Amino acid sequence: MRRFFKLSAVAIVMILLTVVIAYPGKGQDATPPRIVPGPWGDIVDPVTPPIFESEADRITFYRRQQMRAISSHFRSLEGIIEYDAPFQAQAMQHIEALNAIAQHLQQLFPPGTAANDGETGARPLIWQEPEKFAQHIQGFQNSVIALQKTLCYTTPSDASEALTAVRHQCLACHQSYRVR
Ligand code: HEC
Repeated sequence: MRRFFKLSAVAIVMILLTVVIAYPGKGQDATPPRIVPGPWGDIVDPVTPPIFESEADRITFYRRQQMRAISSHFRSLEGIIEYDAPFQAQAMQHIEALNAIAQHLQQLFPPGTAANDGETGARPLIWQEPEKFAQHIQGFQNSVIALQKTLCYTTPSDASEALTAVRHQCLACHQSYRVR
């Protein structure tokens, strides 16, 4: 009987070892940090390279970076238009960047890239009602172009309403299609 327990314990340890070796760091950052050489010396990048397990992971990574870029340009415009940051001359650059990303937004949502159940990200509803989702993208593009036109003819402090129209499009799309 004792021998049986001993053998079972050995078997369990071996199974655990196999799992650990087969799936190193699954679900966590197991890649080594990047050493970045250059004129300022060898610097360790605090951001370790992510692990991609599928093409959907790669697409989602890129899509989220693009959303962050959208967010940064939007927030920069907010700084200029709503909070009077003295960079009026740069407003158009942010609009142009927003415009460029808005034009390829549709491509960032290929089928098969919904968030897994219980995780944050893109809702499956996007692919269940593609026409409505396309209308949201169109609405966002239109609002950015309207803001651009407003900024051509007025000062940033008069563009508050047009900025709110863009903000509405962000929030409306997130309300229906993003899990937070
Ligand atoms: C047509 C729909 C749509 C529009 C318009 C839109 N978003 Fe998003 N956004 C999404 C979806 C869907 C996600 C989730 C994507 C994912 O996690 O794969 C997302 C994610 C994000 C994220 C999180 C990124 C991350 O790192 O997880 C931010 C920030 C964001 N959006 C900001 C904005 C801002 C700001 C605007 C407007 C200026 C905007 N979005 C317009 C659909 C939209």
